[in-house]
Amino acid sequence: VAPLKVGIAGLGTVGAEVVRLIESQARALAGRSGRGIRVVAVTARSKAKKRGVDLRDVEWAKDPMALATHPEIDCFVELMGGAGDPAMSAVEAALTAGKSVVTANKALLAKHGIKLAKAAEKHGGALNFEAAVGAAIPVIKTLREGLAGTGINRVYGILNGTCNYILTRMEQEGLSFAECLKDAQRLGYAEANPSFDVDGHDTAQKLAILASLAFGTKVAQSAVYVEGISSIAPEDLRAAADLGYRVKLLGVAVRTAKGIEQRVHPTMVPKSSSIAQVMGVTNAVTIDGEGIPPITLVGPGAGGAATASAVVADIADVARGIRANPFGRPIAQLRDTKKAPMERH
Ligand code: HSE
Repeated sequence: VAPLKVGIAGLGTVGAEVVRLIESQARALAGRSGRGIRVVAVTARSKAKKRGVDLRDVEWAKDPMALATHPEIDCFVELMGGAGDPAMSAVEAALTAGKSVVTANKALLAKHGIKLAKAAEKHGGALNFEAAVGAAIPVIKTLREGLAGTGINRVYGILNGTCNYILTRMEQEGLSFAECLKDAQRLGYAEANPSFDVDGHDTAQKLAILASLAFGTKVAQSAVYVEGISSIAPEDLRAAADLGYRVKLLGVAVRTAKGIEQRVHPTMVPKSSSIAQVMGVTNAVTIDGEGIPPITLVGPGAGGAATASAVVADIADVARGIRANPFGRPIAQLRDTKKAPMERH
């Protein structure tokens, strides 16, 4: 069987790690997929940058669009980020050309997910985005496939590693918000524009994706109520601790009588609760299914290695020929998400 030919757009921390994993895990991946996986072309802002990966035999495409429509490529891997161009037009072009797409781009999916899923449906490619939510945690697969037989009433959790890292260090070490954020940036957890993290938008994007999969609704970031953590100070965390609480930035999507409610805001959680034990860059997602006790997935929610592992798993699915409906159902069956009235629970 011919190997799956992959093109990667974006060679930052995640992209370089994906190249490395495809190389170092080649045997295991081929065993799992029944065929090899080969990176044949890449594109990135800088060709000269040292990345510690061997790209000698790899073609450099002139830009993301050229790579997305490259005749040699079966699978376009988009790791540039951002809801607009060049990511949007390149992903759309790849899907329209019948290629499969793997992306970690939650901003893109939260804004254009339905349009892109339609293109995938029409032209037959896969659209995989496990790395977009919870990095290495297989939460997309869990909702899309593992829980396909279960009605879901609520999905909630800690979806931003940067915020949880900041809140953890502020509480434990009494450090300032700014200091902790700087460290989160240095460690490669934060978004290029960290206000997406701390103002709650990154959590909202991920929540909108999870809600779509959980409830069969169209992804709609605009339907999410959002409040971030940037005004929280160490004293607030101490005051909460004195009362037996910790503060966590939670994303919650819940089925209510009035529709699907989606909200992101700092929340006081009792110190004894399991969600309060989730510290540092770790993410946790709890899924309340109908008639079954809650399921919680916990794991690294940000960082190059954790994100790359999910990207490579998605590429392996493409190599195996697995093609799921991106949002769990045919697009025609997804219902509209209206902004449900806010009710705090
Ligand atoms: N900036 C994101 C976070 C990266 O901190 O969770 C992973 O999506």
